[in-house]
Amino acid sequence: MTTHFITFRDLTVSQYYHIFERASFLKKERRSGQYRLDHLKGRAVGVFFNKHSTRTRVSFECAINELGGQPIIMNLNDSQFSRGEPLSHSARVLSGYLAALVIRTYEESQLTELAKWGSIPVINALTDDRHPCQVLTDIFTLYERLGSKKLSDQLICWIGDGNNMANTWVEAAAVLGFGLNLACPEGYEPKAEILKRAYQENPKIKLTRSPLEAAEGATAVNTDVFTSMGQESEKEKRLKDFKDFQVDSNVMAKAAPGAIFMHCLPAHPGEEATNEVIESEASVVFEEAENRLHVQKALLEFIIPKLI
Ligand code: CP
Ligand code: NVA
Repeated sequence: MTTHFITFRDLTVSQYYHIFERASFLKKERRSGQYRLDHLKGRAVGVFFNKHSTRTRVSFECAINELGGQPIIMNLNDSQFSRGEPLSHSARVLSGYLAALVIRTYEESQLTELAKWGSIPVINALTDDRHPCQVLTDIFTLYERLGSKKLSDQLICWIGDGNNMANTWVEAAAVLGFGLNLACPEGYEPKAEILKRAYQENPKIKLTRSPLEAAEGATAVNTDVFTSMGQESEKEKRLKDFKDFQVDSNVMAKAAPGAIFMHCLPAHPGEEATNEVIESEASVVFEEAENRLHVQKALLEFIIPKLI
């Protein structure tokens, strides 16, 4: 059966730990200069981006290359995607060429449609609703620092918009069992159906209006832009609605001793977080960015069966 990675619910706890251990090994190998692998030798992976990207696109292209494969870059305007070809057709056509499809777009239903009709793994590189590759990497970043401490004993904090990243953190908390405090302004909470299902599985997920309350005792404080891609027309209103939801040194001071600051990037210093926090000792934002490569290599190896 084909394994997809469209939501955090697509893999099991043991599969996540397998990916973390493998990513850790691949990171060490790469740092020692040994990163030419052959898992994808002679095979191509489609990389389709219908929204801007720096980290996700470049890290996936490098990951595919370093696994011995070839990334095939597609975009909306030079493919038949923008000319109305049914996704049910494109899925079957691309399955004849590619080992997997990595896709970033607006509507997540496009990914589920491609997965339904195709026979290759579909990897969600961000939709309006979710960003699982980023949260997978963020949890790996935390996992690396925890040593012998258990991930499920940690309290993670999310401050700001209940956006694609927040939805994914909620699903990750449901699957992996850690505590999650979210502080979001009224009207900007994560999707109701995602929250409702997750609450039933993990009562340690809590929603508040107070960033200081949410950060209390947290191992990691997370945030993201106030205006995500596709919401540009709401920017002015959002800046006002989020004015009390900035991560600053007062918020970080409420977190647990040694807590880290996380942001998927790109950031707007001075909006969702102060420049002081982004540049502080507690900040792991560039480590998260680097880890995208290692974790996505481990994910691709796991999700694309090796040819024998
Ligand atoms: N964090 C992240 O997904 O960044 P990009 O938009 O640059 O890919
Ligand atoms: N929430 C942001 C994440 C960017 C990586 C967006 O969707 O634009």
